[in-house]
Amino acid sequence: MISLKINNGLNGEVNIPGDKSISHRSIIISSIANGVCEVTNILKSEDVLNTLNAFKMMNVKIEDFENKLIIHGKGLSSLKKPIKEIYLGNSGTSARLLIGLLSSQNFATTLTGDKSLSKRPMKRITDPLIKMNAEINTTNGSMPIHIIGKELKNQLIDITLPSAQVKSGVMLAALNTEGVTEIIEHNVTRNHTEIMLEAFKADIAIDSAQHKKIIKIKGKKELKAININVPSDLSSSAFFIIAALIHDKSKILLKNININSTRNGILIALNKMGARISYLNKKISNNEEICDIEVESSELYGCELDSEIAKLMIDEYPILSIAASFAKTPSIFRGLGELKVKESDRLQLIVTNLQRCGVKCETNNDDLFIFPSDNYKIKNNIIRTDYDHRIAMAFAIMGSKIGPLEISESDSISTSFPSFKEEFNKIGGNIS
Ligand code: S3P
Repeated sequence: MISLKINNGLNGEVNIPGDKSISHRSIIISSIANGVCEVTNILKSEDVLNTLNAFKMMNVKIEDFENKLIIHGKGLSSLKKPIKEIYLGNSGTSARLLIGLLSSQNFATTLTGDKSLSKRPMKRITDPLIKMNAEINTTNGSMPIHIIGKELKNQLIDITLPSAQVKSGVMLAALNTEGVTEIIEHNVTRNHTEIMLEAFKADIAIDSAQHKKIIKIKGKKELKAININVPSDLSSSAFFIIAALIHDKSKILLKNININSTRNGILIALNKMGARISYLNKKISNNEEICDIEVESSELYGCELDSEIAKLMIDEYPILSIAASFAKTPSIFRGLGELKVKESDRLQLIVTNLQRCGVKCETNNDDLFIFPSDNYKIKNNIIRTDYDHRIAMAFAIMGSKIGPLEISESDSISTSFPSFKEEFNKIGGNIS
């Protein structure tokens, strides 16, 4: 994919697809609920289709229409052993959530993934499950993973890593475990699983103390299906928000965007940087906060972000680094260790690719420093992505400022945002 420089700004309305995290959860939770669930605005990207396929393989009846899914859930223990291993592609969310769910089912399963997923750490989810008595064999702590589903023991589980995937995997295991599983989370991470389980009438109690959250789940309580309208994805929106901010003569509108406060770090960061963003028509849908977002070209200033905010926007650093490259002053983003174990080592790829674009930047431990300039001289216009969708989209936006940039392995974009190129070109971008 080649991203070319544009001169006339970005204007119009962008169709942002459904939220990826909520799309995964809507398939998983309605597959084990009782009753029929209609899911609208679901993201049909490769990652989500891998989750969908997993449940079809476990005998859940899912009708797949152009703009909705109808999922016929039959209860907590209704899943059937798949006839072969389940392939989850690039999707870390599918992997961590399914490892949890399947560890308390009554059959054995093997989960596999692509090259990138097979390198990602899985002990973070298998360790707490093994504490609950789960039987799981990893391949040196990663995929392929063999799970021998069985009755688990409720336990007190402390989650010290900032990971919604780990928290959610343990919560899904607890649903089919006798008694009360208590999960203590020491960091704020996205809470879509808690919100959806409450809406499906799980027996769940949540207490937030000063620096921790205590989630108590009483297992074996059947879930009741409700319909879900998936809000549009803030992480996907971020590419367009920042593109409009850094290009003169731009004004764009994004509708129906999820601005859940456990996910909105990017909006807080951009506000600090001086972004002109308006939030319109705020409302609540399925207990998620949603609004329309209008963005105008802005003069941005650098900012310093600490490690606490990183938990609220971990997926947005690749594109935030592009915003920082066009700010008037330097930026420091602290505490980015988790970026090293995403779909790629994102910290390294941000630095390598910004340097190829002529941007002065460096890391010190897990902190990233970006020193912007108003005149970049490209050193190497081939962007290395290691098949990471967010690196590819972030540097496609970079290309629209300083291009042409050639984005290698850009097919990865279909893991989260298959219509990215069309949407960008529709409002004035030039990606071929
Ligand atoms: C996700 C949680 C985050 C995020 C990922 C999606 C989720 O991962 O990076 O893209 O849907 O729970 P961690 O929880 O591992 O940080």
